[in-house]
Formats: sequence, structure tokens, C-alpha cells
Amino acid sequence: MEIDQEQKEDFGVLLKQGAEARVFESTFVGRRSIVKERFSKKYRHPTLDTKLTLKRLNAEARCMTKARRLGVPTPVLYAVDQVLHTLTFEYVDGPSVKEVLLEFGANGIIEERMHDIATQIGDAVGKLHDGGLVHGDLTTSNMLIKIETNQLVLIDFGLSFTSTLPEDKAVDLYVLERALLSMHSSCGNVMDRILSAYRKSSKQWSSTLNKLAQVRQRGRKRTMIG
Ligand SMILES: Nc1ncnc2c1ncn2[C@@H]1O[C@H](COP(=O)(O)OP(=O)(O)O)[C@@H](O)[C@H]1O
Ligand SMILES: [Mg+2]
Repeated sequence: MEIDQEQKEDFGVLLKQGAEARVFESTFVGRRSIVKERFSKKYRHPTLDTKLTLKRLNAEARCMTKARRLGVPTPVLYAVDQVLHTLTFEYVDGPSVKEVLLEFGANGIIEERMHDIATQIGDAVGKLHDGGLVHGDLTTSNMLIKIETNQLVLIDFGLSFTSTLPEDKAVDLYVLERALLSMHSSCGNVMDRILSAYRKSSKQWSSTLNKLAQVRQRGRKRTMIG
């Protein structure tokens, strides 16, 4: 039994080992693909754990599919395996926004590309939010740029949930703002550009951005106390 649990399936080349999931590069019916395997946490109760893992696996698949329906580019979902706890996606060939912005920071910003990327981010997040979907982990590693088309693709819906509350949407944007400030400060004010596209994309921009101002203030107070 113990041996079975320890045995690892051969999904392909390991790209990332996270706290809750492993990500592999693989092939699916001859196509380059990504396999994301959620694994159990040994310290949790086994039955409860399997239930939770399955719940999250299905939630991620559902949210990603919903985003796509809302017109937000995401990888195509090829398969969901409830026994192995895996999701199989289309492989998106291209760098992450993190890689592109780090490159801009090191070697200078290409204005036109920067504008295009920020606009696509604002547009995508606006669409998600108007459709009642909160991404939950908007960092620059969870955004890829397709190499052939320069299209922005959102990935990693593992923390996504449905909500129509301006507060939840504001926190989503705040996470992105913090990520940009901490990692890409040399790229200028990317967030302003993103928000300007967000205003055009989301009909509910006004209530969300009002909340964002409050969330920022709370964040500042917390920093002062901490
Ligand atoms: N569809 C995809 N195409 C190409 N690379 C991907 C794809 N999905 C994930 N990756 C790569 O694997 C990494 C981890 O995947 P992600 O879904 O973000 O898992 P985690 O929850 O561990 O962050 C991503 O940051 C990205 O580099
Ligand atoms: Mg991720």
C-alpha cells in the first residue's frame, strides 16, 4: 500500500514541482501537452484529502473552461483524469509575461510590446471579472505569450472561483499590482496601463476600482503595523 502511494506515474518531463501540484511536459494523442497532477498531502486525512484534491481538480477545469467561454484565451483542456488527479492541457509555446518583463528590465523596454501586453492583460481580466470569475493568482508567471501570435494566454486557475463582489475583483487586481511592484519595478508603471485597458473592458470597472483604492489603503496600513 505504502509502496503504491509512493510510486510515481510517468507523465513526462517534470517542469515544476509545487506544493499542491506537479507540472509535466508530455504528449497527448501526438500533441505537445502539459499534465498537471494534483497530489495528496500526507498530513491530511486520506479520505478527506482525496475529496479535496478532486474538488480542486474539477474546480480548476471548470474555471478554465468558463474563462474560455468568456472570450479569455486559455489553453485547450484535453482531458480530466479523476483517478490519477490530472488535467491535460494544450502546450502553449512562448515565454511567460514574467520572462518578458524581466528581459525588459535587463535590456530595455520595447514600448510597443509593453503596451500590447498590458492592454491584453487588462482586457482579459476585465472579461473574466464581468463574467463573474476571479482568477485568484494573477501573477506574471501565470500569463504566457504565444510565440506565433503574441496572444496572451491565462493559465493556472487552481485558485479561481466565481464571484460578482467588487471586493473579490479588487483583491484579484491588487495581487497583480503587488507582483508587478515587487518583481518588475524597473518596467515603469505597468499597472496603470493594465487598468486603463481594464476600464475599457469591464462595464463594472468603477465599483471594482473604488474597492481597489480601499484594498490598497488596507495594505499600506498593514505594512506600517507589520
Ligand atoms: N499550458 C501550458 N503551456 C506551457 N506551459 C505551461 C502550461 N501550463 C503550465 N505551464 C508551465 O508550468 C508552470 C506551472 O503551471 P501552473 O498551472 O501555473 O501550476 P502552479 O499551480 O504550480 O503554479 C507555469 O508557470 C508554466 O511555466
Ligand atoms: Mg502558477
